[in-house]
Amino acid sequence: MDTGYTVEQLRAAASDAVRAPSLHNTQPWRFRLRDGGIELLVDSRRRLPATDPSGWGARISCGAALFNLRLSLAVAGTPATVRLRPYPTEPDVMARLVPDVPRRPTLTEQNLYGAISRRFSNRAPFWPDPVPADARWRLGEAARAEECWLELVIGTSAVNALAEIARSANRVLEREPAYRAERDAWIRSEPSPDGVPSAAGGPQSEPQDLLPQRGFGGRNRAPGRDFEPEPLVAVLGSAGNTATDQVIAGQALQRVLLTATDAGLSVSMISQPIEVPGAREALRLSLGRFGTPQMVMRIGYGQPGTATPRRAVEDVLDLPVVPA
Ligand SMILES: Cc1cc2nc3c(=O)[nH]c(=O)nc-3n(C[C@H](O)[C@H](O)[C@H](O)COP(=O)(O)O)c2cc1C
Repeated sequence: MDTGYTVEQLRAAASDAVRAPSLHNTQPWRFRLRDGGIELLVDSRRRLPATDPSGWGARISCGAALFNLRLSLAVAGTPATVRLRPYPTEPDVMARLVPDVPRRPTLTEQNLYGAISRRFSNRAPFWPDPVPADARWRLGEAARAEECWLELVIGTSAVNALAEIARSANRVLEREPAYRAERDAWIRSEPSPDGVPSAAGGPQSEPQDLLPQRGFGGRNRAPGRDFEPEPLVAVLGSAGNTATDQVIAGQALQRVLLTATDAGLSVSMISQPIEVPGAREALRLSLGRFGTPQMVMRIGYGQPGTATPRRAVEDVLDLPVVPA
């Protein structure tokens, strides 16, 4: 075991961490080195007050970045021991990572790491090909490996019930001018280091759509380019719903997303039914599961997506100022 991580290791791991997904691509994270440990902080200035008043989305996003951070360090041969939310007096510190015994990365770690740069949200209609049983099983295992569960919603009536909850949550949100203004402020028609490029925003919604789109101002759909009629919909959930549980769920989310990417699958996230408390409770009851739903996903085979921008790693590091 060595004495601590270096700035170079922090920089390398953080540049992988920032590829994580985040609500509206806000990238609400910062990274620093303290006493040889790498620390991940939520950047509260990048929280979305209207969409995410509790900070749930920022913590899920940080958990996803933390999973990349762990993978990056493990693949470099310097795996970490992680403490979540280590300081009661510093609630913005989401995790502290200190070096564990050096070892070779496992094959799973290498495969998931390789998927980091190939994972993108894909909001377009997927092809009708079903997701095979072994891939479904791997997705569930990915959630379980991070202390969460993944419920695959099977059967037309169960999918319809979930879709109804999601559409009604979307209607509740869309009635809120502050929510709409916030979303629109994060749509980018010009190159920008954050926010959702309108080209990545997915097609415009149409009345026949089963699941709601976020309304990122995407293109009109070509005639007949409908969403797949029987989507594979999955709900990720955690045992509890404390701030720490949400960081755990973020790690599980990223592990599921990278596992999907590694299996050649595309995913789009649908979090409106998580953001509206009544909808989240209805979703929990409809699944009949203990714990708390943390994300809804549509999973399938599609055209490969494209990367969305990220801020430069130097902009998310808190490094001590070296005197000139
Ligand atoms: C907590 C959370 C909630 C999200 N909710 C949605 C959503 O409801 N609809 C959607 O299209 N994308 C959603 N996303 C995806 C983000 O918009 C996406 O990760 C971000 O724009 C970066 O793009 P990328 O995933 O392609 O890297 C969500 C992501 C996170 C982490």
